[in-house]
Amino acid sequence: MKYFLDSAKLDEIDLAYNTFGIDGVTTNPRHIQLSGKPLKVVLKDIAAWLKDHDLKGYEQFPVSVEINPHLTQATDMIAEAHLIAPLSTNFVIKLPCTAQGITASRLLEKEGIRTNVTLVFSPSQALPVAKNGALFVSPFVGWKEEHGDDCTQYISDIISIYRTYGFKTEIILAALRSSKQIVDAARLGADIVTCGLAVYQGGLEHPYTRKGLEIFQNAWDNTVTE
Ligand code: E4P
Repeated sequence: MKYFLDSAKLDEIDLAYNTFGIDGVTTNPRHIQLSGKPLKVVLKDIAAWLKDHDLKGYEQFPVSVEINPHLTQATDMIAEAHLIAPLSTNFVIKLPCTAQGITASRLLEKEGIRTNVTLVFSPSQALPVAKNGALFVSPFVGWKEEHGDDCTQYISDIISIYRTYGFKTEIILAALRSSKQIVDAARLGADIVTCGLAVYQGGLEHPYTRKGLEIFQNAWDNTVTE
């Protein structure tokens, strides 16, 4: 299962790449806002970082970039994708899971611009995303579970439908909020998870690991040396 970082902050991307060996990045308008920079600057900085790290193309290290969420028509979404995609061969265009978003996804994929259809909350939304050839589909977990929904059934349904029909679209379980959700995603067979840096960091923490290190340091320091 691949790990993507859900962030538009360059320091976080750099840290997550060096520490966890993340396989890609997903961004959304909220992440761009939190970066404190204009979208154009964020994209330029990420493109330069990719170049510095010799990460070539979406196959090696995809970075999802969401279009203006006010756009409702496929033609306008495609026009915006045409401005973003040439900035880096790593950029994947993130589109909303609406009829127009899926149309834009199909047409962009036909011309070789890869897409990630986001804001997916049900198998009935995930099916047409795959039928229309998106590279990625992003079913959300965190948003639903924060409101008391258990996502296990909905996610395993999407995974089993995709496997049954051999769809190539990769499933990114998005907005994960805990290491338990990451483990659940792996257990269910998700292709990819995406979440913030703190969630990955939290997954590595265990009080026994810290306690064990103290015990071993103490033993090391008190071992006879000759
Ligand atoms: C997914 O691709 C989204 O960017 C993301 O997971 C949205 O959720 P969040 O910003 O609430 O984490």
